[in-house]
Amino acid sequence: MRKLLVTSALPYANGSIHLGHLVEYIQTDIWVRYQKMSGNEAYYICADDTHGTPIMLKAEEEKVTPDDLVKRVHQEHDADFKAFNVNFDHFYSTNSIENRELSESIYNSLNDNDKILSKEIDQFFDEAKQMFLPDRFIKGTCPKCKAEDQYGDSCEKCGATYSPTDLKNAYSVLSGTEPIKKKTLHYFFKLSECDEFLKKWTENETLQLEAKNKLKEWFDMGLQDWDISRDAPYFGFEIPNAPGKYFYVWLDAPIGYMASFKKFAKMNNLSFDEYWKKDSTTELIHFIGKDILYFHALFWPATLNYSNYRTPTKIFTHGFLTVNGEKMSKSRGTFITARSYLDHVKDPNFLRYYYATKLNSSMEDLDLNLEDFVAKNNSDLIGKFINIPSRTSGFLGKFFNHELMPLTLIASDEGLALLKKIKESRVAIEEHYEAREFSKLVKFVMQLIEDLNEYISKTEPWKLAKQEQQQKPHSALHEICSICLKSFRILSIFLTPIIPNLCEKIALFYGEEFFDSFNLIEDDVLKIKTYKHLLKRIEQESVDLMINSNSKD
Ligand code: MSP
Ligand code: ZN
Repeated sequence: MRKLLVTSALPYANGSIHLGHLVEYIQTDIWVRYQKMSGNEAYYICADDTHGTPIMLKAEEEKVTPDDLVKRVHQEHDADFKAFNVNFDHFYSTNSIENRELSESIYNSLNDNDKILSKEIDQFFDEAKQMFLPDRFIKGTCPKCKAEDQYGDSCEKCGATYSPTDLKNAYSVLSGTEPIKKKTLHYFFKLSECDEFLKKWTENETLQLEAKNKLKEWFDMGLQDWDISRDAPYFGFEIPNAPGKYFYVWLDAPIGYMASFKKFAKMNNLSFDEYWKKDSTTELIHFIGKDILYFHALFWPATLNYSNYRTPTKIFTHGFLTVNGEKMSKSRGTFITARSYLDHVKDPNFLRYYYATKLNSSMEDLDLNLEDFVAKNNSDLIGKFINIPSRTSGFLGKFFNHELMPLTLIASDEGLALLKKIKESRVAIEEHYEAREFSKLVKFVMQLIEDLNEYISKTEPWKLAKQEQQQKPHSALHEICSICLKSFRILSIFLTPIIPNLCEKIALFYGEEFFDSFNLIEDDVLKIKTYKHLLKRIEQESVDLMINSNSKD
């Protein structure tokens, strides 16, 4: 049995969960559910990422304390994740005592290992607001193409990247005044000294090939020391022995993975050390989006290594979600929040299924095409999958007291062969799950579903039902319906990690609680309950309403 600690990136606490985020949380959730159903010990750990300037300013704007803001957002995030069946074992917060203690002790270890340096640097300072400004809060004219109102780190018009000191006519987004340059003492993590360790670390099978290539580029450019401090006022943890200086949010955010697990371990009598000590034999797996690879593949393993902890086993990086082929956009209404999906489309199974049809192990972007979303779900889940019980379960109720024929009594070679093929596909299915090739997996399962539908069309049980009154001792109708409903149950067990909510309803239809193990496919199921409608079609109208509700913001 493998032991795995699996994480998704920690969502920022200054905004709502949207369909882009959900690509990651659903991808990870499917993978962890698969691990658990395969009999491995896996924990899905997450938390809100609560620190930093944007959250501090948002709280100020709403006239609440940052603590109150992050508590409220935590509740909202928690409800959204639950509604999409994202089943964290623990969803914590980086604003926790465990995270403070771990961040301080890791910083102290880095210091002891001579990996911290302090030096004075020039920073933009807003005199009206009396605070230093992060790059994103400074705007001005692009030094390259002269476009106005560009951010302090890069130009959205021409794509140039630069430092805020290069901007022309720089102004503070907060006060509109021209910022001054001011000297301040900052603390740096000496990443430049970690070059050799990181190069060696990336030689292992930790990263996808595309990620490895990206790292090569970064190594070629040379690793720069990393500024891990920010000046007060800042919402975060104060640096030990450095009054008025705070850890930059990206220092304590990944430590939040550890802190969340630490709290979870304490509540569940697990050993924190077993998962985090240097020579741990457990697996530490991070799912992340491609925009935060630098933090996870460079800063994070270096931080762990030089503070005497284990490093990640795998970093699984995914691409970005586009909607109808374009970047999510507030003005087009395609910046869709999780909540508005729930308000309008309602059923989480559809989004989970659709993402599964698109997800693979690469870092390529994936597209949510809304027309295709409606068509595919209605055709695959309603037209094909749910079609199996809805075409066959009625006959079992009407003629056979809701009882299925035991496998040992079934004589039809064709039916038995089909059932056997479905059962034996477990190996291939588990391989696809393990490799995060969900798109291939869904195609493969859909093919089996189509085979089953073909079997029904060919054997025409409705014709047999007309003759059933004759009460033959061995009924072909009974056989066909039994094959179909035994097969349908197995396919539902296979699909449980992807559409757990729908499959839970299916489990109830068989008088079972929840399909929690792939071994359940070995059971010879003998009874069903009365078939009740399992899933309602998506109407295009609900999708249109969802888009409208998002474009009003
Ligand atoms: N707080 C940081 C992560 C800290 S992890 C120690 C962060 N938060 S985020 O809310 O911006 O993003 C959370 C995750 O969602 C990231 O992995 C990010 O890549 C992912 N996504 C955010 N928007 C996305 C899309 N449009 N598409 C796919 N994934 C997206 O980054
Ligand atoms: Zn420009």
